[in-house]
Amino acid sequence: MKLKLDAASLVMVGFILVLGLAMYALLTDPQTKGARDVTVDAAAKSASDSRVSVATPVARMAQPTPANTQAFASAPGTIAVPVMPPTASSIMEKGVADAGLKPFLNPKAKLSEGHWKGLEALPLSMELKKKLKLPLELEGLLIDEVTLNAAEAGLLAGDVLVAVNGKPVRTLEDLVTESRRVQMAKSASMLIYRKGKMQQFMLVAKNNLGYAQVETAPMILPGEIMPHPYRGPCTQCHAIGTTGHIVPDPDGIILPPPPIRVNAVAPHKDRGPCQACHIIIR
Ligand code: HEC
Ligand code: HEC
Repeated sequence: MKLKLDAASLVMVGFILVLGLAMYALLTDPQTKGARDVTVDAAAKSASDSRVSVATPVARMAQPTPANTQAFASAPGTIAVPVMPPTASSIMEKGVADAGLKPFLNPKAKLSEGHWKGLEALPLSMELKKKLKLPLELEGLLIDEVTLNAAEAGLLAGDVLVAVNGKPVRTLEDLVTESRRVQMAKSASMLIYRKGKMQQFMLVAKNNLGYAQVETAPMILPGEIMPHPYRGPCTQCHAIGTTGHIVPDPDGIILPPPPIRVNAVAPHKDRGPCQACHIIIR
Protein backbone atom coordinates (compact mmCIF):
# COMPACT_ATOMS: atom_id res chain seq x y z
CA MET A 1 0.00 0.00 0.00
CA LYS A 2 2.76 2.39 1.05
CA LEU A 3 4.79 1.52 -2.04
CA LYS A 4 1.78 2.08 -4.30
CA LEU A 5 1.21 5.55 -2.83
CA ASP A 6 4.85 6.51 -3.35
CA ALA A 7 4.78 5.43 -6.96
CA ALA A 8 1.60 7.38 -7.55
CA SER A 9 2.96 10.58 -6.05
CA LEU A 10 6.17 10.16 -8.05
CA VAL A 11 4.16 9.98 -11.25
CA MET A 12 2.18 13.05 -10.17
CA VAL A 13 5.36 15.05 -9.48
CA GLY A 14 6.77 13.93 -12.82
CA PHE A 15 3.63 15.01 -14.62
CA ILE A 16 3.58 18.43 -12.96
CA LEU A 17 7.26 18.94 -13.81
CA VAL A 18 6.65 18.07 -17.44
CA LEU A 19 3.64 20.38 -17.65
CA GLY A 20 5.69 23.18 -16.09
CA LEU A 21 8.47 22.60 -18.59
CA ALA A 22 6.09 22.69 -21.52
CA MET A 23 4.48 25.91 -20.20
CA TYR A 24 7.87 27.51 -19.71
CA ALA A 25 9.01 26.56 -23.21
CA LEU A 26 5.81 27.93 -24.66
CA LEU A 27 5.90 31.24 -22.83
CA THR A 28 9.57 31.96 -23.43
CA ASP A 29 10.08 30.81 -26.99
CA PRO A 30 9.67 33.82 -29.31
CA GLN A 31 8.61 31.52 -32.17
CA THR A 32 5.50 30.46 -30.30
CA LYS A 33 4.50 33.94 -29.06
CA GLY A 34 2.12 34.40 -31.97
CA ALA A 35 0.60 31.01 -31.40
CA ARG A 36 -0.06 31.68 -27.74
CA ASP A 37 -3.54 33.16 -28.10
CA VAL A 38 -4.52 30.16 -30.15
CA THR A 39 -3.10 27.86 -27.50
CA VAL A 40 -4.98 29.57 -24.70
CA ASP A 41 -8.17 29.58 -26.74
CA ALA A 42 -7.82 25.96 -27.61
CA ALA A 43 -6.96 25.06 -24.04
CA ALA A 44 -10.00 26.90 -22.74
CA LYS A 45 -12.17 25.39 -25.45
CA SER A 46 -11.04 21.84 -24.94
CA ALA A 47 -11.25 22.22 -21.17
CA SER A 48 -14.83 23.38 -21.45
CA ASP A 49 -15.91 20.75 -23.92
CA SER A 50 -14.00 17.68 -22.95
CA ARG A 51 -17.12 15.86 -21.98
CA VAL A 52 -15.70 12.70 -23.50
CA SER A 53 -12.19 12.90 -22.16
CA VAL A 54 -9.42 14.54 -20.25
CA ALA A 55 -7.59 16.86 -22.62
CA THR A 56 -3.88 17.64 -22.52
CA PRO A 57 -4.35 21.24 -23.61
CA VAL A 58 -0.77 22.43 -23.31
CA ALA A 59 0.49 20.10 -25.99
CA ARG A 60 -2.42 20.88 -28.26
CA MET A 61 -1.37 23.77 -30.44
CA ALA A 62 2.25 24.34 -29.55
CA GLN A 63 4.86 24.53 -32.27
CA PRO A 64 7.79 22.15 -32.00
CA THR A 65 11.06 23.64 -30.77
CA PRO A 66 14.11 21.85 -29.43
CA ALA A 67 13.03 22.93 -25.94
CA ASN A 68 9.49 21.63 -25.99
CA THR A 69 9.96 18.61 -28.24
CA GLN A 70 11.53 17.05 -25.16
CA ALA A 71 8.45 17.90 -23.15
CA PHE A 72 6.18 16.54 -25.87
CA ALA A 73 8.13 13.32 -25.91
CA SER A 74 7.78 12.70 -22.20
CA ALA A 75 4.31 14.09 -21.49
CA PRO A 76 2.04 11.21 -20.55
CA GLY A 77 -0.59 10.36 -23.12
CA THR A 78 0.94 12.41 -25.90
CA ILE A 79 3.11 11.43 -28.79
CA ALA A 80 6.13 13.50 -29.79
CA VAL A 81 4.49 14.84 -32.89
CA PRO A 82 4.03 18.55 -33.56
CA VAL A 83 0.38 19.55 -33.68
CA MET A 84 -0.04 22.48 -36.07
CA PRO A 85 -3.06 24.77 -35.95
CA PRO A 86 -5.12 22.91 -38.52
CA THR A 87 -7.34 25.51 -40.16
CA ALA A 88 -8.10 25.69 -43.84
CA SER A 89 -6.25 28.96 -43.97
CA SER A 90 -3.15 27.66 -42.24
CA ILE A 91 -3.09 24.67 -44.53
CA MET A 92 -3.49 26.84 -47.62
CA GLU A 93 -1.90 30.19 -46.89
CA LYS A 94 1.50 28.58 -46.90
CA GLY A 95 0.91 26.83 -50.20
CA VAL A 96 -0.49 30.00 -51.74
CA ALA A 97 2.45 32.05 -50.49
CA ASP A 98 4.96 29.41 -51.62
CA ALA A 99 3.52 29.33 -55.09
CA GLY A 100 3.33 33.13 -55.23
CA LEU A 101 -0.36 32.84 -56.10
CA LYS A 102 -2.92 35.56 -55.57
CA PRO A 103 -6.06 34.48 -53.81
CA PHE A 104 -8.27 33.15 -56.52
CA LEU A 105 -7.79 30.39 -54.02
CA ASN A 106 -9.58 31.71 -50.97
CA PRO A 107 -7.36 30.96 -47.99
CA LYS A 108 -10.40 31.16 -45.74
CA ALA A 109 -12.40 28.64 -47.76
CA LYS A 110 -14.33 26.17 -45.64
CA LEU A 111 -13.19 22.57 -45.61
CA SER A 112 -15.74 20.24 -47.13
CA GLU A 113 -14.25 16.77 -47.04
CA GLY A 114 -11.80 14.70 -45.01
CA HIS A 115 -10.12 11.37 -45.67
CA TRP A 116 -8.56 9.04 -43.15
CA LYS A 117 -7.69 5.36 -43.49
CA GLY A 118 -10.43 4.62 -45.99
CA LEU A 119 -13.13 6.80 -44.55
CA GLU A 120 -14.49 9.90 -46.19
CA ALA A 121 -16.13 12.40 -43.84
CA LEU A 122 -18.23 15.51 -44.40
CA PRO A 123 -19.13 18.30 -41.99
CA LEU A 124 -22.49 17.48 -40.47
CA SER A 125 -24.29 20.62 -41.63
CA MET A 126 -27.87 21.52 -40.75
CA GLU A 127 -28.75 20.73 -44.38
CA LEU A 128 -27.43 17.16 -43.97
CA LYS A 129 -29.00 16.62 -40.54
CA LYS A 130 -32.38 17.55 -41.94
CA LYS A 131 -31.99 15.45 -45.08
CA LEU A 132 -30.79 12.41 -43.11
CA LYS A 133 -33.26 12.96 -40.25
CA LEU A 134 -30.50 13.03 -37.65
CA PRO A 135 -30.96 14.73 -34.26
CA LEU A 136 -30.39 18.43 -34.89
CA GLU A 137 -28.22 18.74 -31.77
CA LEU A 138 -25.91 15.90 -32.85
CA GLU A 139 -22.33 17.09 -33.45
CA GLY A 140 -19.78 15.18 -35.46
CA LEU A 141 -18.82 14.31 -39.02
CA LEU A 142 -20.93 12.35 -41.46
CA ILE A 143 -19.05 9.34 -42.78
CA ASP A 144 -20.23 9.14 -46.37
CA GLU A 145 -17.88 6.48 -47.69
CA VAL A 146 -15.91 3.58 -46.19
CA THR A 147 -13.23 1.38 -47.71
CA LEU A 148 -9.96 -0.19 -46.44
CA ASN A 149 -9.31 0.04 -42.69
CA ALA A 150 -12.46 2.03 -41.97
CA ALA A 151 -14.61 -0.67 -43.55
CA GLU A 152 -12.64 -3.35 -41.75
CA ALA A 153 -13.27 -1.56 -38.46
CA GLY A 154 -16.99 -2.03 -39.06
CA LEU A 155 -17.81 1.56 -39.89
CA LEU A 156 -20.67 2.15 -42.30
CA ALA A 157 -21.51 4.98 -44.63
CA GLY A 158 -24.16 6.98 -42.82
CA ASP A 159 -22.43 6.69 -39.43
CA VAL A 160 -21.63 9.89 -37.60
CA LEU A 161 -18.12 10.12 -36.17
CA VAL A 162 -18.41 11.81 -32.79
CA ALA A 163 -15.00 11.31 -31.18
CA VAL A 164 -11.54 9.89 -31.88
CA ASN A 165 -9.78 8.34 -28.88
CA GLY A 166 -12.26 10.07 -26.61
CA LYS A 167 -11.70 13.55 -28.08
CA PRO A 168 -14.72 15.22 -29.68
CA VAL A 169 -14.58 15.64 -33.44
CA ARG A 170 -17.04 18.31 -34.53
CA THR A 171 -15.27 19.78 -37.52
CA LEU A 172 -12.83 18.62 -40.16
CA GLU A 173 -10.23 20.76 -38.39
CA ASP A 174 -10.87 18.63 -35.27
CA LEU A 175 -10.43 15.49 -37.37
CA VAL A 176 -7.00 16.70 -38.50
CA THR A 177 -6.02 17.61 -34.93
CA GLU A 178 -7.21 14.39 -33.37
CA SER A 179 -5.86 12.13 -36.10
CA ARG A 180 -2.48 13.88 -35.79
CA ARG A 181 -2.48 13.01 -32.11
CA VAL A 182 -2.68 9.30 -32.91
CA GLN A 183 -0.85 9.33 -36.23
CA MET A 184 1.96 7.08 -35.02
CA ALA A 185 -0.37 4.70 -33.17
CA LYS A 186 -1.63 1.45 -34.64
CA SER A 187 -5.17 1.84 -33.39
CA ALA A 188 -7.62 4.43 -32.17
CA SER A 189 -11.14 4.19 -30.84
CA MET A 190 -13.93 5.77 -32.85
CA LEU A 191 -17.12 6.85 -31.12
CA ILE A 192 -19.92 6.46 -33.64
CA TYR A 193 -23.54 7.54 -33.64
CA ARG A 194 -25.61 4.93 -35.48
CA LYS A 195 -29.38 4.55 -35.45
CA GLY A 196 -29.93 6.46 -32.23
CA LYS A 197 -27.09 4.83 -30.29
CA MET A 198 -23.45 5.58 -29.52
CA GLN A 199 -21.05 2.73 -30.31
CA GLN A 200 -17.27 2.25 -30.10
CA PHE A 201 -15.20 0.90 -32.96
CA MET A 202 -11.45 0.37 -33.29
CA LEU A 203 -9.69 1.76 -36.31
CA VAL A 204 -6.61 -0.40 -36.77
CA ALA A 205 -3.61 0.12 -39.04
CA LYS A 206 -0.85 -2.28 -39.98
CA ASN A 207 1.93 0.29 -39.54
CA ASN A 208 0.47 3.53 -38.23
CA LEU A 209 -2.73 5.49 -38.61
CA GLY A 210 -1.28 8.58 -40.26
CA TYR A 211 -3.42 11.69 -40.20
CA ALA A 212 -6.47 12.90 -42.05
CA GLN A 213 -6.24 14.83 -45.30
CA VAL A 214 -8.79 17.52 -46.04
CA GLU A 215 -10.21 19.33 -49.05
CA THR A 216 -12.47 22.25 -49.75
CA ALA A 217 -15.35 21.97 -52.23
CA PRO A 218 -14.08 21.42 -55.81
CA MET A 219 -12.83 24.28 -57.95
CA ILE A 220 -15.64 25.46 -60.23
CA LEU A 221 -15.68 27.36 -63.51
CA PRO A 222 -16.49 31.08 -63.56
CA GLY A 223 -20.25 31.45 -63.97
CA GLU A 224 -20.98 27.80 -63.25
CA ILE A 225 -24.55 26.91 -62.27
CA MET A 226 -25.11 25.83 -58.68
CA PRO A 227 -26.37 22.23 -58.49
CA HIS A 228 -27.11 22.37 -54.75
CA PRO A 229 -29.30 24.53 -52.51
CA TYR A 230 -28.03 28.03 -51.74
CA ARG A 231 -25.26 27.79 -49.16
CA GLY A 232 -23.78 31.28 -49.23
CA PRO A 233 -21.32 33.15 -51.44
CA CYS A 234 -19.65 30.62 -53.76
CA THR A 235 -16.09 31.61 -52.82
CA GLN A 236 -16.71 30.77 -49.19
CA CYS A 237 -16.33 27.16 -50.29
CA HIS A 238 -15.17 26.98 -53.91
CA ALA A 239 -12.12 28.24 -55.70
CA ILE A 240 -13.10 29.66 -59.08
CA GLY A 241 -10.83 28.66 -61.92
CA THR A 242 -10.19 26.27 -64.76
CA THR A 243 -7.33 24.19 -63.43
CA GLY A 244 -8.99 22.26 -60.66
CA HIS A 245 -10.66 19.28 -62.20
CA ILE A 246 -10.35 16.75 -64.99
CA VAL A 247 -12.63 13.92 -65.95
CA PRO A 248 -10.32 10.94 -66.03
CA ASP A 249 -12.82 8.64 -67.73
CA PRO A 250 -12.29 9.07 -71.49
CA ASP A 251 -15.95 8.34 -72.13
CA GLY A 252 -16.78 11.36 -70.02
CA ILE A 253 -14.58 13.67 -72.08
CA ILE A 254 -16.62 15.41 -74.71
CA LEU A 255 -14.52 15.99 -77.79
CA PRO A 256 -15.82 17.52 -80.96
CA PRO A 257 -16.34 14.53 -83.27
CA PRO A 258 -13.48 14.53 -85.77
CA PRO A 259 -14.12 14.16 -89.54
CA ILE A 260 -14.00 10.50 -90.65
CA ARG A 261 -13.55 8.63 -93.96
CA VAL A 262 -16.53 7.01 -95.67
CA ASN A 263 -15.62 3.46 -94.72
CA ALA A 264 -14.16 4.18 -91.30
CA VAL A 265 -14.87 1.66 -88.58
CA ALA A 266 -16.14 3.16 -85.33
CA PRO A 267 -13.66 2.71 -82.45
CA HIS A 268 -16.49 3.43 -80.02
CA LYS A 269 -19.81 1.74 -79.31
CA ASP A 270 -22.85 2.41 -81.47
CA ARG A 271 -23.87 6.04 -81.01
CA GLY A 272 -26.29 6.29 -83.90
CA PRO A 273 -25.94 7.27 -87.57
CA CYS A 274 -22.36 8.35 -88.28
CA GLN A 275 -23.35 11.52 -90.14
CA ALA A 276 -25.29 12.80 -87.12
CA CYS A 277 -21.96 13.63 -85.53
CA HIS A 278 -19.16 13.26 -88.07
CA ILE A 279 -18.36 15.08 -91.26
CA ILE A 280 -17.75 12.23 -93.69
CA ILE A 281 -14.77 12.70 -96.01
CA ARG A 282 -14.95 10.85 -99.33
C1 HEC B 1 -21.01 26.19 -47.84
C2 HEC B 1 -20.20 25.74 -48.94
C3 HEC B 1 -20.64 25.97 -50.38
C4 HEC B 1 -21.08 27.14 -50.97
C5 HEC B 1 -21.28 28.48 -50.30
C6 HEC B 1 -21.29 26.83 -52.35
N1 HEC B 1 -21.00 25.54 -52.60
FE1 HEC B 1 -21.05 24.59 -54.39
N2 HEC B 1 -20.51 22.84 -53.51
C7 HEC B 1 -20.18 22.70 -52.19
C8 HEC B 1 -19.84 21.30 -51.93
C9 HEC B 1 -19.43 20.72 -50.58
C10 HEC B 1 -19.95 20.62 -53.16
C11 HEC B 1 -19.72 19.14 -53.42
C12 HEC B 1 -21.00 18.39 -53.65
C13 HEC B 1 -22.10 18.71 -52.67
O1 HEC B 1 -21.88 18.64 -51.45
O2 HEC B 1 -23.23 19.06 -53.10
C14 HEC B 1 -20.38 21.62 -54.13
C15 HEC B 1 -20.57 21.36 -55.46
C16 HEC B 1 -20.76 22.34 -56.43
C17 HEC B 1 -20.70 22.11 -57.85
C18 HEC B 1 -20.41 20.76 -58.53
C19 HEC B 1 -18.91 20.74 -58.70
C20 HEC B 1 -18.33 19.41 -59.10
O3 HEC B 1 -17.26 19.44 -59.73
O4 HEC B 1 -18.88 18.39 -58.73
C21 HEC B 1 -20.93 23.31 -58.47
C22 HEC B 1 -20.93 23.57 -59.97
C23 HEC B 1 -21.14 24.29 -57.42
N3 HEC B 1 -21.03 23.67 -56.19
C24 HEC B 1 -21.41 25.62 -57.64
C25 HEC B 1 -21.61 26.55 -56.64
C26 HEC B 1 -21.94 27.95 -56.88
C27 HEC B 1 -22.11 28.56 -58.26
C28 HEC B 1 -22.04 28.55 -55.66
C29 HEC B 1 -22.40 30.00 -55.36
C30 HEC B 1 -23.61 30.51 -55.94
C31 HEC B 1 -21.76 27.53 -54.65
N4 HEC B 1 -21.52 26.34 -55.29
C32 HEC B 1 -21.74 27.76 -53.27
C33 HEC B 1 -20.18 23.67 -51.23
C34 HEC B 1 -20.58 24.97 -51.42
C1 HEC C 1 -23.42 10.80 -81.16
C2 HEC C 1 -22.23 11.21 -81.91
C3 HEC C 1 -21.47 10.14 -82.71
C4 HEC C 1 -21.97 9.22 -83.57
C5 HEC C 1 -23.41 8.97 -83.94
C6 HEC C 1 -20.80 8.51 -84.12
N1 HEC C 1 -19.67 9.02 -83.59
FE1 HEC C 1 -17.76 8.48 -84.05
N2 HEC C 1 -17.01 9.74 -82.67
C7 HEC C 1 -17.78 10.62 -81.93
C8 HEC C 1 -16.89 11.37 -81.06
C9 HEC C 1 -17.33 12.43 -80.02
C10 HEC C 1 -15.60 10.90 -81.30
C11 HEC C 1 -14.31 11.39 -80.60
C12 HEC C 1 -13.75 10.34 -79.66
C13 HEC C 1 -14.76 9.73 -78.75
O1 HEC C 1 -15.55 10.46 -78.12
O2 HEC C 1 -14.82 8.49 -78.65
C14 HEC C 1 -15.70 9.91 -82.34
C15 HEC C 1 -14.64 9.21 -82.88
C16 HEC C 1 -14.73 8.43 -83.99
C17 HEC C 1 -13.60 7.90 -84.72
C18 HEC C 1 -12.14 8.14 -84.40
C19 HEC C 1 -11.75 9.36 -85.20
C20 HEC C 1 -10.37 9.88 -84.91
O3 HEC C 1 -9.82 10.52 -85.80
O4 HEC C 1 -9.88 9.66 -83.79
C21 HEC C 1 -14.07 7.15 -85.76
C22 HEC C 1 -13.25 6.44 -86.81
C23 HEC C 1 -15.52 7.21 -85.64
N3 HEC C 1 -15.87 7.98 -84.58
C24 HEC C 1 -16.38 6.54 -86.49
C25 HEC C 1 -17.76 6.55 -86.39
C26 HEC C 1 -18.65 5.78 -87.26
C27 HEC C 1 -18.19 4.86 -88.36
C28 HEC C 1 -19.91 6.04 -86.82
C29 HEC C 1 -21.22 5.48 -87.38
C30 HEC C 1 -21.30 4.03 -87.40
C31 HEC C 1 -19.82 6.97 -85.72
N4 HEC C 1 -18.49 7.26 -85.48
C32 HEC C 1 -20.91 7.49 -85.04
C33 HEC C 1 -19.14 10.78 -81.97
C34 HEC C 1 -20.01 10.01 -82.72
